[in-house]
Amino acid sequence: MNTRELQDLIIKEKKERDVCILAHAYQSHDIWEVADFVGDSYGLAVKAASAPQKTVIMAGVRFMSETVKTLSPDKKVILANPMAGCPMAIQMDHDAVLKLQAENPGYTTVAYINTTASLKTAVDIIVTSSSAVKILKNIPDKNILFIPDCNLGDWVAKQLPEKNFKFFKGGCPTHLRMTVKDVEAQRKDHPDALLLVHPECHPDVTAQADYVGSTTGIMKYAEESDAREFIIGTESSIVQHLQFACPDKKFYLLSKECVCHNMKMTTLVDIYNSVIGNGGEEITLPEDVITNSLKPINRMIELGG
Ligand code: 13P
Ligand code: SF4
Repeated sequence: MNTRELQDLIIKEKKERDVCILAHAYQSHDIWEVADFVGDSYGLAVKAASAPQKTVIMAGVRFMSETVKTLSPDKKVILANPMAGCPMAIQMDHDAVLKLQAENPGYTTVAYINTTASLKTAVDIIVTSSSAVKILKNIPDKNILFIPDCNLGDWVAKQLPEKNFKFFKGGCPTHLRMTVKDVEAQRKDHPDALLLVHPECHPDVTAQADYVGSTTGIMKYAEESDAREFIIGTESSIVQHLQFACPDKKFYLLSKECVCHNMKMTTLVDIYNSVIGNGGEEITLPEDVITNSLKPINRMIELGG
């Protein structure tokens, strides 16, 4: 069977079985072509809740499927490849948050969505890269304990100088592999290209960028820009999707290290097996975890629009 035949089979089976497929922006293009929704972590979280299907398959990483389960507890949520987890999401657990909170009274705890459902039960608000600045601007709270990604936190804090931020030393191992040396090398090779990066990159890299934004923010910017060439500082799949979306523009990866191996674990065969009920992992969460992690997630949706 070739790729096209497998995609056709997935599309036929998902319709017959009333299954919705969500694919994160870092999934490969062959997976995007069979998905009902593609997007950044904020977009997927919101879309999943409104999807009419009873079963949702997540082509992404574990924390994303936990968020979908929290927002849609009556749905059957399947993580297409059970090994796909975000290393950042396990850098900090629930008890570590409680300890930080005890050490920092008077601070509002804001967690990146790249965290476990269990951790989310201990925090005040969840944010994503595309919603963090807007959400924090909309709340009166001045003292913010931002966990776990200090690079995203630094980027947000620079745009909200009126607030007082404290950070935890967490971050994304994929984005941290992109360096200022990579920026210099790519700018030298492509002097007319704009540099577009994700806020999980090191602040020295984001400081050099022409645009900083979420995965879909980067794609939208490149698609709408009059510029013809772009250096992309995020996971490699974004370059692949942009090449399909804008074949007349040129896209260069900031570094050959821009690969998230967890995001790359999921294959079309995993999706097929999950659709026919022969693979993937059904995500279950204790009722109290759903109830208590829903509160900060709902605040994100209310404040993020
Ligand atoms: P987005 O919220 O931009 O989709 O990012 C998720 C992620 O895991 C980035 O590394
Ligand atoms: Fe996690 Fe980084 Fe991979 Fe995103 S790119 S899923 S933050 S490891």
